[in-house]
Amino acid sequence: MARQKTFFTCQQCGCQSPKWLGKCPDCNQWNTLVEEQSQPQQGGRALPTPGKPQKMAEITSTAEDRVSCGIAEFDRTLGGGLVPGSLILVGGDPGIGKSTLLLQAIDKLAQKGTALYVTAEESTRQVKLRGERLGATAENLYLLAETSLEQIRKRITELKPDYLVIDSIQTIFTNSIESAPGSVSQVRECAGQLMLVAKGEGIPTFLVGHVTKDGSIAGPRVLEHMVDTVLYFEGDPGHPYRILRAVKNRFGSTNEIGVFEMCESGLREVANPSELFLSERPEKNAGSVVVPAMEGTRPILIELQALVSTSSFGTPQRTAIGIDHKRMALLIAILDKKVELQLAGQDIFVNVAGGVRLDEPALDLATIAALASSHLNRAVEAQTVIFGEVGLTGEVRAVSQPELRIKEAARLGFNRCILPQGSLKNIKPPKGMTLVGIRHARELLDLVFN
Ligand code: TYD
Ligand code: MG
Repeated sequence: MARQKTFFTCQQCGCQSPKWLGKCPDCNQWNTLVEEQSQPQQGGRALPTPGKPQKMAEITSTAEDRVSCGIAEFDRTLGGGLVPGSLILVGGDPGIGKSTLLLQAIDKLAQKGTALYVTAEESTRQVKLRGERLGATAENLYLLAETSLEQIRKRITELKPDYLVIDSIQTIFTNSIESAPGSVSQVRECAGQLMLVAKGEGIPTFLVGHVTKDGSIAGPRVLEHMVDTVLYFEGDPGHPYRILRAVKNRFGSTNEIGVFEMCESGLREVANPSELFLSERPEKNAGSVVVPAMEGTRPILIELQALVSTSSFGTPQRTAIGIDHKRMALLIAILDKKVELQLAGQDIFVNVAGGVRLDEPALDLATIAALASSHLNRAVEAQTVIFGEVGLTGEVRAVSQPELRIKEAARLGFNRCILPQGSLKNIKPPKGMTLVGIRHARELLDLVFN
């Protein structure tokens, strides 16, 4: 009898090896290789429509074919709606609200056509109970509790849905592979087959993906390469705010985010995130600064907080929540050397309120202001917003989209904006807003605290 051939697959990155190894040679993770049966290739897979060269100019664009999900924040993240035949992976921590979000979205889509929600984790009764709470009552919404890919495909052929949700990709399995559900081979094969269904029949398909402890989607890279769009649903479990972020999008920008709030009746869209993030701001308190940050094409006003206190240990603590740790260290060094504000021997904590994560250089100036404010124990004026990039010599550099940031601040009643001199060019301040341009971080302190 011929021996069954096996190989070892890394469950982190999908790398394969003929023999077992303690450490994956590709991603350097320890103890991630698992033995899997090798499968005889059952003939190559052909794309549903045989390819033939076509003139690009003759291909009709399908931009106008986008379908709205009925949830504006979701549409925004997708780049303006759902593209026919696209495969969308939605990842996120357990319990963050992926199933809730997709049930709400598919319910809205079911008003436009037949929708199938495949639940491989919960029973149809459980989903129904949740649906009742969310007010999901669409006539054409079908539920299917099934884990076998072959069965799911059969039902898809029978029902011919216009929209499809698979919750989740890690819990379904195909008989053509012997590995356990959730293993890299299974996830890859199932996603591959679902991709053929999505592309072949033009069904927009949402896949729910679990994330591993370090935050990437399990069976990870392989999946991210296969799908058209990767969305992450994130948020701090202690806060009601959730952010839907695109990290890969073949049909739009990856800078857009959608903001939601989790309440008793499911996820509620937050059309005005600035108001939400500023609602609990302590005014006239040292260490708190408002910064107009850009999330994609949208400005969002967010509160940045810093706490500087004398350390009781030899090595002071440095903690950054919501901003880059290394960026914070750099700004502390600039404060020390270029602004002559001694922070050595101080414990320093920086936090972005509301559990949001920000990553743009425009935060630099606000971070410096918050640190100085806490250290000097003097509050920044409540109606002032601050943004700008700070270079290593302490110079303040222009950032993108100053006008949008200023407009958003003016809309929410702020009356003074401190910004880089370089960003001031050709900007007409909105009514009631004073713009103050600065060239060096040193000027900031004189402006803010007097
Ligand atoms: P769920 O969508 O099941 O998360 P996931 O699919 O990402 O694992 O969301 C579960 C959490 O959402 C649960 O902890 C409770 C909360 N939740 C609400 O607060 N309100 C609601 O209406 C619903 C349906 C869930
Ligand atoms: Mg779920």
